Amino acid sequence: MTEPVRLLFVCLGNICRSPTVEGVFSSQADKSGWRSMFEIDSAGMAGSHVGEPPDRRAQRHARDRGYDISALRARQVGPQDFEHYDHILAMDNMVLAALQRMQKFSRQPKAELALFLDFLDGHEGQDVPDPYYSDAAVFETVLDMAEAGSLSLMRHLLKKQGVFGCGC
Ligand code: 4NP
Repeated sequence: MTEPVRLLFVCLGNICRSPTVEGVFSSQADKSGWRSMFEIDSAGMAGSHVGEPPDRRAQRHARDRGYDISALRARQVGPQDFEHYDHILAMDNMVLAALQRMQKFSRQPKAELALFLDFLDGHEGQDVPDPYYSDAAVFETVLDMAEAGSLSLMRHLLKKQGVFGCGC
């Protein structure tokens, strides 16, 4: 059995964007039949929501598209995460910059840092917008990006693992 590809999705609070992407990526990986190739988690830069379930609006919008993210709980990213995960995917440029600073405190970092949307053609360098102080339309945009970005990331990673024609 080969080692799974370890992925960590990171936003600011770990209650809106990154749990949404975690739920969507997991669901897509389930459907593709390649779920066992991945270890998936999410975390936040800030500690202010640690232990909380995803924001109720994020849960509702996700549920309306068939994703149940209610069992997820927020946690804070730390230097040890850079030693465990292969890829740490930031939801926006501010989070990416903070992760780059944090990486210096990791003893043996192996994780590759990138923006989540760097893996989606035409969206390289872009932020997943923060919906927390915004309205329903932004939660829908987050889900659109989560779906398109996750599929593209999964195809990229499976190809790298030698899986072609994954049926996803
Ligand atoms: P997230 O959204 O980073 O997508 O989870 C936010 C959640 C909480 C806060 C900001 C953004 N906050 O300021 O508490």
